[in-house]
Amino acid sequence: MPNLFDNINNKSIFIDPIILDFEYLPKLLPFRESEQHHIADCIKPLFNNSLGKNILVIGKPGIGKSAACKFVLRELEEKGLDEKIIPLYINCWKNNTEHQFLLEICNQIDYKFTHNKTSLDLLKTISKILNKKAVVICLDEVDKLADYSIIYNLIEDIFKKTLIFITNKTSFLAELDKRIHSRLIPEVINFKHYNYEETKEILKQRMDLAFNKNTFEQEAFEEIAAKSAYEKDIRLGLTLLKESATTAELKNNSVVKKEHVVEAINKLFPEKENLKEIENKIISMLKEKKELTTKEILNELNDKKINYRQLTAIISKMKDKKLITTNIITKGKFGNIPVHSFVSTVL
Ligand SMILES: Nc1ncnc2c1ncn2[C@@H]1O[C@H](COP(=O)(O)OP(=O)(O)OP(=O)(O)O)[C@@H](O)[C@H]1O
Ligand SMILES: [Mg+2]
Repeated sequence: MPNLFDNINNKSIFIDPIILDFEYLPKLLPFRESEQHHIADCIKPLFNNSLGKNILVIGKPGIGKSAACKFVLRELEEKGLDEKIIPLYINCWKNNTEHQFLLEICNQIDYKFTHNKTSLDLLKTISKILNKKAVVICLDEVDKLADYSIIYNLIEDIFKKTLIFITNKTSFLAELDKRIHSRLIPEVINFKHYNYEETKEILKQRMDLAFNKNTFEQEAFEEIAAKSAYEKDIRLGLTLLKESATTAELKNNSVVKKEHVVEAINKLFPEKENLKEIENKIISMLKEKKELTTKEILNELNDKKINYRQLTAIISKMKDKKLITTNIITKGKFGNIPVHSFVSTVL
């Protein structure tokens, strides 16, 4: 009896898929050196028993904000100064209530007697412990906190500190309560997106670690870099590396080709966004008029750049993608004419 799992290919093309994890922190973080130095400079006063500066890291998704801050915290930890300066990283999306936030700090500083304690109790205990030293607390996704009063409490109750806030919400500072705002006065570090060359280099480094040499055909890799740079999102590039390799693997290919990347892109981006402008116009027409012949579509489009033959090819592709359907009807004295109508329900 054949088994469904008989033809499993035991040789994976991934050397180490963990490398492509969003949480994986590379050894080096190219093109973010100046931002990392800026963050480090705000922390440095803590080394001399002075007060650190607070920081607001702001920028669009997937451009290395969390990675850069974690990198600085790791360097701080590696410096072996946690006896003197404690680095803490809290994801406020995962710990969005004051109590969860405080419990996570307890967890990181190894304080175990949290049972049946109120948030106020926890805050008092934490302050007592942290105030013996200096502390860097990174509040990632800070705008996801259910209530910003924890920020006020940290500012008031913890003395020697640098608070790092990360967000992609540009209105974050403006939305803060005046009492918090005036106490905070952070250094704002604006993260810009990477350009194409930088995106390519970052993704290449990850690809070289995650896969054997030459696993990706050059044009397949470039397609990923181009899409990732266009969307200004490294995370998307990592997803496409993973998805297209998985697609290739499922088809028993040991080399990732452009067609696998295109398939991965189509999977990630709903059809509607990938449709060329012209296809969108045809769909709108068919939605409105219900049924049209190719000639009628051509007249409606009224686009000098498209001739009848080109339009037939576009319509044929749309039929392949099951966006429209064609019925042959007997119309007029010239006999059978294909009439197109819109069928997709996903749009
Ligand atoms: N300069 C870089 N070098 C290597 N990897 C990078 C670099 N910048 C970003 N990455 C990688 O890209 C992915 C996304 O980065 P990160 O999670 O830091 O984005 P983010 O700006 O915090 O986005 P979000 O606002 O959605 O949280 C991570 O896997 C990260 O390791
Ligand atoms: Mg982040």
